[in-house]
Amino acid sequence: MKASWILPDGRRVEAQVQHGRSLMEGAVMANVPGVIGECGGTLSCATCHVLVDAAWQDKVEAISDYEDAMLDATEAPRQANSRLSCQIFAADDLDGIVLRVPGA
Ligand code: FES
Repeated sequence: MKASWILPDGRRVEAQVQHGRSLMEGAVMANVPGVIGECGGTLSCATCHVLVDAAWQDKVEAISDYEDAMLDATEAPRQANSRLSCQIFAADDLDGIVLRVPGA
């Protein structure tokens, strides 16, 4: 499936993400600046923070309590549409998803 990341300067990075892989893994493979994924997806770093575009917020899976807690530890301030992208997994219904990389 295709995913797009909009960078703080307005540039857009698009990449194909294999089904079942997280959007953090997809971002790292596509060298999306600002999505680090330091912990490898174990919900302990919050460096995979993204903002989910409004059109896609209803389609992503709900936030777990643990992700919710980790979202308070992001470098950029948490927003209503903040997610940790290691917890969003590529699937047909997310094809075309748009994520914003929060500015520092
Ligand atoms: S990659 Fe570390 S919390 Fe998502």
